Amino acid sequence: MEEMNASIRYDKRLYRQDIAGSQAHAAMLARQGIIAAKDADAISHGLVTILSEIENGTFQFRDDLEDIHMNVEARLAELIGPAAGRLHTARSRNDQVATDFRLWIRDRIDLHRQQILDLVKVLVDRARQHAETVMPGFTHLQNAQPITVGHHLMCYVEMFGRDRDRFGDCRKRLNECPLGTAALAGTSFPIDRDGPSRELGFDRPCANSLDAVSDRDFALEYLAANAICSVHLSRLAEEIVLWSSTPFGYATLGDGFTTGSSIMPQKRNPDAAELVRARLGRVQGALTALLTVSKALPMAYSKDLQEDKEQVFDAADTLSLSLSAMSGILREIQFDKEVLRQAAGTGHATATDLADWLVREVEMPFREAHRVVGALVGLAEDAGCGLADLSLEQLQSVCKHIGEEAMAVLGVENSVASRRSYGGTAPCEVRRQIGIWEEKLKCAS
Ligand code: ARG
Repeated sequence: MEEMNASIRYDKRLYRQDIAGSQAHAAMLARQGIIAAKDADAISHGLVTILSEIENGTFQFRDDLEDIHMNVEARLAELIGPAAGRLHTARSRNDQVATDFRLWIRDRIDLHRQQILDLVKVLVDRARQHAETVMPGFTHLQNAQPITVGHHLMCYVEMFGRDRDRFGDCRKRLNECPLGTAALAGTSFPIDRDGPSRELGFDRPCANSLDAVSDRDFALEYLAANAICSVHLSRLAEEIVLWSSTPFGYATLGDGFTTGSSIMPQKRNPDAAELVRARLGRVQGALTALLTVSKALPMAYSKDLQEDKEQVFDAADTLSLSLSAMSGILREIQFDKEVLRQAAGTGHATATDLADWLVREVEMPFREAHRVVGALVGLAEDAGCGLADLSLEQLQSVCKHIGEEAMAVLGVENSVASRRSYGGTAPCEVRRQIGIWEEKLKCAS
């Protein structure tokens, strides 16, 4: 039973939040005249001692005391005697653990939001550096139209920007204080719910005592935000693996986040990116696990809810590490402009530009232009060359309206520069977007 029931091995991570909650609760009990001031004083001093014992590693955690709450309380009794027994007045481990867990997740949200900001900063810096570097833009992983590396990196800035906001939204809903809702029904003691809530940095006390002790939607929402952010990281990680692969050769990774092979001396493996890509699995698993644990649980607290913590701890550690690894990878990555430029031109990537030219200059309907360029692509393929390599005579053999000026639109730089629409890939537009983010970053940090 002890082995199954005890959570101390992992919930000891809540010690700081647990002690802060107890401090706020004891002070409130004294203010309300529920316990004597001298007892509250003794409790407070005892808790300070326990905090330092835990932090300097001298605290003896005991499995037979089940969890962090009982471990702290038992030590408090050793330190200050019977007054320790007054701390648990008008409180239960049910509201206690819900409070601790909200505080812990809130800290992690703040950390992730800072880490995402660091990642966004790296992406914006690298995007500015490569605002003009052309690369192939894909749909279906087939060359579609040329884009710029800056534009591609700014795509992730938008995603991670939303992830950061998502964590912020989750924090707003999480930030209500369960303390004082007791086991499930509230308490007959004349407690003050507002004081401890304020002291612990919550916006307000939870309004319904049953809800406060039994729901974990704050943890689910945190895991969902974490999972979405991890999905974004896995997409970026996957692209980095592709870009740095031998067949692509678009980029070289730095030594900091790669490993060599024990047998092949030439290898530079993108292990960090691969692990970021893979670790989404753990986070997704945690979200599914907690959804499943919560499903169909009757009100109010059941021990099932103890199964919330390991999932959240693991997902939080995973995301923190993945975010900092990704920042490091991006700081070091070197793009090969020549290879990217070459690749951007293959696969007749500027076919749309020629079709657009026919629409603009010859006033051809787009569908007709699409057919003409399709025929030209066929011609190029028969000749074993790219669309951009066809001579004017060859172009005119399919469509006599095509003039010398049309040749210019077939170049990748011109193609990219022409896509100046809002949010488009043209260097001037990408720089404008970068500028907006640089301003946002100044305000955010
Ligand atoms: N260790 C428990 C948990 O994490 C604390 C709450 C225990 N409450 C109870 N009624 N047994 O959920």
